[in-house]
Amino acid sequence: MAMPAEMPKSDILLYVSDLKKHFEISNGLRTTGYVKALDGVTFQLRRGETLGVVGETGCGKTTLGRTILRLIKATDGYVYFDLPDDVMKNVIRLEEELHSLKNKDEPSEEDGRRTSELTDQLGHLRKQYSLTMMSERKLRAARRKMQPIFQDPFSSLDPRKLIKDSIAEPMKLLTDMHRGEIFEKTKELVESIGLSEDHLYRFPHEFSGGQRQRIGVARAIGIDPLLLVLDEPTSALDVSVQAQILNILKDIQSRMGLSYIFISHHLSVIRIMADKVAVMYLGQVIELAETSKLFSEMLHPYTAALLSAIPVPDPRTKREKIVLEGEIPSPANPPAGCYFHPRCPVAMENCGWSPRDMSKSVQHMLDRTRNIEATELPELVEIILDEPNWELEIVFSGNISDASLEIFRRIMAKEAERQGGVRFKAVKSIGIGEESTSIKLIMRKPDIPRLKEVAADHFVSCLIYDKTDVVRKGSYAEEASRIRKSITKTSA
Ligand SMILES: Nc1ncnc2c1ncn2[C@@H]1O[C@H](COP(=O)(O)OP(=O)(O)O)[C@@H](O)[C@H]1O
Ligand code: SF4
Ligand SMILES: [Mg+2]
Repeated sequence: MAMPAEMPKSDILLYVSDLKKHFEISNGLRTTGYVKALDGVTFQLRRGETLGVVGETGCGKTTLGRTILRLIKATDGYVYFDLPDDVMKNVIRLEEELHSLKNKDEPSEEDGRRTSELTDQLGHLRKQYSLTMMSERKLRAARRKMQPIFQDPFSSLDPRKLIKDSIAEPMKLLTDMHRGEIFEKTKELVESIGLSEDHLYRFPHEFSGGQRQRIGVARAIGIDPLLLVLDEPTSALDVSVQAQILNILKDIQSRMGLSYIFISHHLSVIRIMADKVAVMYLGQVIELAETSKLFSEMLHPYTAALLSAIPVPDPRTKREKIVLEGEIPSPANPPAGCYFHPRCPVAMENCGWSPRDMSKSVQHMLDRTRNIEATELPELVEIILDEPNWELEIVFSGNISDASLEIFRRIMAKEAERQGGVRFKAVKSIGIGEESTSIKLIMRKPDIPRLKEVAADHFVSCLIYDKTDVVRKGSYAEEASRIRKSITKTSA
């Protein structure tokens, strides 16, 4: 009897859908909050392709890699890996439809019905196919096909084990290969990374950092994986050694047809290694495009800032560092609206200005030593924030008359025209407070940017590309070039 032909595999090796990882913060007794290290990441990776993941320290790159490998458990979201073509197509279609329904501002009754229908269908598929939901036993098969490579090869090489045993370990644990076969393969592997057989009988400390990283690579590819997750694989190495490792990785990839998720905060390394790049900011992908496009026609203001920021070579480690204006907000308490708005040089009034953002600016505006016009108003006493209602109450030492309110309006209008003053335009209404010694500001609620495809295979999450005139005219490239110009101006 003929065996049933195996279903053809999908060209999409990996599909990550709305992946989230929230780390609990606790004071020892109870949960006091969450660090949103990953906050809804979605992408596809083809066979043989490299996705570069770039962004400043703390943006969630390592967490992304570890969650995909299920070294840590996802809080939410799905990871589909190496599936038959029809299954993969089906889950992508359903997940995408569900995602867009969930993002609708005003879902209709029909949308609600469709949402529960999709959730139902996906429930079964997710349980069966998503790595985030599989039993440990089923996961074993996937684990054979995906391997991590970390920044510090010491973490994967046991200092007490001979190199031969370190390289052989995944083959022993994850395959049915015999001892003899494993040994033959180990010899082959050590040569493929440019070392020789007698190196097998040494310990990790007898090797340089670059050699150890090469041994780490040999160890990872012994089981013939389909995907390597490389987390800053060369960041700890000298520039001269970096190039060597990158060449070996490229060579292995083309020989074995591997897919890579290549994590790095070195733009130059990403540029060499990646076919397409995901730029991350505070746990989210904010731009995703083919590498050459991303570097020449970046759309997102953060990407533009990242690429225009001068990489500063650090003489001690010979590494480059990205230096960007402003502090990175904490992922435990991210800004409202667009997470990038407090640092964005081209932010608009709907980008996320909250009472929290306003408080300091109002204080600054009413600072009498700085602004002579502020002396026309009674002295500032305090600012009370009502964040849930998007309000702030500015309390003064004396009565606020209609005339004082006009003065306040005038000062604020001036402030709104200054550089960085756009937040004042997010004030929806100004009135005298209940106490008559205060002024109440009500802020407009921000819009939420979502990752959307604005050019072929070029995804961006920024409200500028949602503006009606931009969408109508399709003038995305014009907007992007305006953004780049204004960023070079502010950083000059
Ligand atoms: N085990 C953990 N517990 C709590 N917070 C964590 C943990 N691991 C990472 N984080 C936090 O998650 C965020 C993302 O970290 P990480 O993924 O390491 O970023 P990156 O690799 O881009 O530097 C950071 O704010 C970090 O402090
Ligand atoms: S949505 Fe765009 S313009 Fe607005 S703050 Fe974010 S990146 Fe800047
Ligand atoms: Mg990291």
